[in-house]
Amino acid sequence: MQNKSLVSITDYSKAEYLKILDLAAEFEKNPNQEILKGKLVATLFFEPSTRTRLSFETAINRLGGRVIGFADVNSSSVTKGESLKDTIKMVTSYADLIVIRHPTEGAARYASEIATVPVINAGDGANQHPTQTLLDLYSIQKTQKTLENLNMFMIGDLKYGRTVHSLLMAMSYFNPTFYFISPDELKMPREYLIYLNQQKIKYYEYKEFMPIISEADIVYMTRVQKERFSDPIEYEKTKNAYVLRNSMLEHTRANMKILHPLPRVNEISLDVDENPKAYYFTQALNGVFVRQAIISSILGLNS
Ligand code: CP
Repeated sequence: MQNKSLVSITDYSKAEYLKILDLAAEFEKNPNQEILKGKLVATLFFEPSTRTRLSFETAINRLGGRVIGFADVNSSSVTKGESLKDTIKMVTSYADLIVIRHPTEGAARYASEIATVPVINAGDGANQHPTQTLLDLYSIQKTQKTLENLNMFMIGDLKYGRTVHSLLMAMSYFNPTFYFISPDELKMPREYLIYLNQQKIKYYEYKEFMPIISEADIVYMTRVQKERFSDPIEYEKTKNAYVLRNSMLEHTRANMKILHPLPRVNEISLDVDENPKAYYFTQALNGVFVRQAIISSILGLNS
């Protein structure tokens, strides 16, 4: 993993994922260490973020490193017409590691080809969000005590939701059964279904999650990704397609946990938050430990 960019979830092997999860557990026990002292990480967010940027920056600060970058593209010279290539060429000469979020699919890969330091993809359009996937794996392993043979329900915007795309690929190492629940307009893209067929992973597609939710080990809710729609009328048609309410959880498995990459809009009712099966806020906290593990592994500075 040392000096290796993390752009797609397939950049790392199963053994490498598992190593990151073990290391994240160590950081959870002891998050304040000085192992990044003297290191500088650039966080370049061309799209809005709360959790990903702040958890990366928390991870870096807790490890004694320093952060440069921008949270708003309007405060960068991109607004003057500077290209992504020139931006990366500059930043690669300032920092030891680049974390980038960009609205264009493939932008992080392109950045990794220009940069002379490793690049971490913090989300590229509707494509991938691999560090979210690693924190999702960590959350699943922590709550289920295994990653193997789980019933994974993915609900909502499976077309534009980059987190479900990365998670589907990573979980495929662990013999899951997928239940994809979405409106017709937001179905899991065909390329991912082909991938599952090639891996001989079972999946089912539904339009409703009741009453089959009783079979779930993990319910992974997603927000309808308003920013990816070219037609606002299409967004309006699908935005409230699914709302998970506390009353729907009555006949679910004892081990079942509800995950969501957040932010949520309407898809999880507030009355679910107090249910012990709601795990999404702890999931977001786990992002700090997992990102500590990813950064220290890439920089070869394991605790
Ligand atoms: N999960 C996630 O990517 O959240 P942010 O958009 O707030 O970073």
